[in-house]
Amino acid sequence: LLGSHLLIAQPNFNREGHRGARGLMPENTVRAMKKAMDLGVQTLELDVVISKDKQVVVSHDNYMSSDISLKPDGSPVTAEEQKKINLYQLTYADIKKYDVGSKPHPQFAQQQKFPAYKPLLSELIDSVNTYAKAKGLPLPMFNIEIKSNPATDGEYHPEPTEFVNLVMAVLQKQKLGKRLIIQSFDVRPLQLIHKQQPDISLSYLTANAKTLDENLAALGFKPNTYSPYYKTVTAETVKACHDQGMLIIPWTVNTKAEIDSLRQLGVDGIISDYPNLF
Ligand code: G3P
Ligand code: CA
Repeated sequence: LLGSHLLIAQPNFNREGHRGARGLMPENTVRAMKKAMDLGVQTLELDVVISKDKQVVVSHDNYMSSDISLKPDGSPVTAEEQKKINLYQLTYADIKKYDVGSKPHPQFAQQQKFPAYKPLLSELIDSVNTYAKAKGLPLPMFNIEIKSNPATDGEYHPEPTEFVNLVMAVLQKQKLGKRLIIQSFDVRPLQLIHKQQPDISLSYLTANAKTLDENLAALGFKPNTYSPYYKTVTAETVKACHDQGMLIIPWTVNTKAEIDSLRQLGVDGIISDYPNLF
């Protein structure tokens, strides 16, 4: 009973649907976002990559993952060939020919299955806004992950300056205002945006065993949100983030028991593949 009182007393708790609602719908698709909104999330987490013709595409991987992808002829992309189908070497018209919604997912058996393609970032935001207005739902926040990586610059994606410019050009037209968070594991896009547009809310993703201070030293400034892998979060991490004026929102938490115990530690939000658990 005490636990439930503590949970209710967090009106600003940020419920984030990971890749929309990855446990329930094909990831990073428009329908995954709509599902997450139907389930009452405040924020839609999604990933972006760049195509050969410099379009900003919603996709976790900058290749065609064998977990989810069917080729234009309907045959599955195999594990051996997935990384050879490099999205940065394909035009968006060609990326769109791959079905990323029909193949049963090896990890998420509950996912609803239907043909789907990787949407453009602009298209996804437009569809979400239209859906929210039509259904009388609150307009959600977008937590957009820039998938650059120093190890694959120029091969699977542009250099960070160009990557950031392409993403920001799309977002400028969308006028999301306070509904926008940019996140990355790569410090470089965060540093660029912090310098160029300090009003944009930034979230620093980490997946390492380093301390908060070590990670912040690598970033070089305090982001609005620190977003660590959930198993690394302790009461001390939560307190240290709050003492330094940052929110802490761990990823990706997929059981109710784990969500509840992190909420009891005082985290400010949770990113989950299963927004139905919120
Ligand atoms: O938002 C954090 C989470 O999305 C990071 O992991 O690999 O699912 O993008 P990943
Ligand atoms: Ca992500």
